[in-house]
Amino acid sequence: MRILKLMGAKGSSTVFLGSNLLEEILAFCKKDKTVIITDKNVDMFYGDKFSGFKKVIIEGGEKNKTSYTAWDIYNTLLKFGCERNTFILGIGGGVVCDMTGFVASTYLRGLSFGFVATTLLAQVDAAIGGKNGVNFNGYKNIIGTINQPEFVICDLSTLKTLPRQEIKNGMAEVIKHALIADRRLFLEIEKNRDAFITLDLLHIEPLIFNSMKVKIEIVSKDETEKNERRKLNFGHTFGHAIELSTGVSHGEAVSIGMVMEANLSISRGLLQPYELEQIKALLAFFDLPVEIHCHQKDKVMDAIMKDKKKEGDYIYSVLINGIGHAVIEKVKIREIREILYDMCKS
Ligand SMILES: NC(=O)c1ccc[n+]([C@@H]2O[C@H](COP(=O)([O-])OP(=O)(O)OC[C@H]3O[C@@H](n4cnc5c(N)ncnc54)[C@H](O)[C@@H]3O)[C@@H](O)[C@H]2O)c1
Ligand SMILES: [Zn+2]
Repeated sequence: MRILKLMGAKGSSTVFLGSNLLEEILAFCKKDKTVIITDKNVDMFYGDKFSGFKKVIIEGGEKNKTSYTAWDIYNTLLKFGCERNTFILGIGGGVVCDMTGFVASTYLRGLSFGFVATTLLAQVDAAIGGKNGVNFNGYKNIIGTINQPEFVICDLSTLKTLPRQEIKNGMAEVIKHALIADRRLFLEIEKNRDAFITLDLLHIEPLIFNSMKVKIEIVSKDETEKNERRKLNFGHTFGHAIELSTGVSHGEAVSIGMVMEANLSISRGLLQPYELEQIKALLAFFDLPVEIHCHQKDKVMDAIMKDKKKEGDYIYSVLINGIGHAVIEKVKIREIREILYDMCKS
């Protein structure tokens, strides 16, 4: 088992990575003081391991990551008679982790909580960092909290039941971490790419560990996203807009977003075209899209205009100064529009 520590302003979080950890944590949790939040799929695969616990089973999927679902969970917590010493354990992917962190941080003005992350995306990204949000009125993660979970357990064994599509979504974030902060990790992923397809845990564990480490190190420097943490948004300015306006999955949208933002990096003289080809080849190996659906470009642009990070005519964008080194630059909306329309011309 590998362990990392994240120090937040209001508390720290211990992150564990290994195999068969779900059983270990459940043996440690007190049944009368713990409420488990999970979704229908995860309950179907792993529910037998947490029978006897009080549980809230939500409908999975992004469309259910809303304030309405939070409302339903609050109601169940009321029915369960939860008190200040109740521990909330989220077992699932990013949707369950976001819902759990948000509900636990707000119910009774904050209960202790932890996560067992069961998707690759949650293990390297969503479960780590303490930011947990829900969608509202079509705006993604617009209501949220920043609060560290007591622990994040990344149980690699649970990846075995994960649909291939979800492994692919997680790979977008694994690659993002390499692109923004760890060139060597990028090369290692290239070298061991088949191991991710076969889920050869021995070979992918150190790579997943290094990917998690990128996020933990960035969040430890800047928990509330004043500066450094913005780097984690690489691929997400375009990505969120694409996800909202076209309905493709988060990972797919981020993949296209990274290609768009790498193009922006080339136009500013930060990245070489051959490096973009290297990035596209790796994304494409994992069956991640690298082209935008051009008939949707206006919808994507409209969504970018609603980006939370937009300040007047600018967006603080994350670009890459070579593979493995992110920089934050003020980019004009006009420049972003040009890149989007240029990519659609070629
Ligand atoms: N808070 C953050 O910092 C942060 C960062 C990145 C992403 N996110 C959020 O994470 C969400 C996406 O997370 P996700 O990709 O994990 O999606 P998800 O939680 O919807 O999980 C994907 C699918 O896999 C199923 N599943 C989960 N674990 C499984 C397992 N072990 N075996 C079989 N099926 C399993 C789920 O039921 C779901 O159908 C988005 O809402 C995104 O905004 C949050
Ligand atoms: Zn993401």
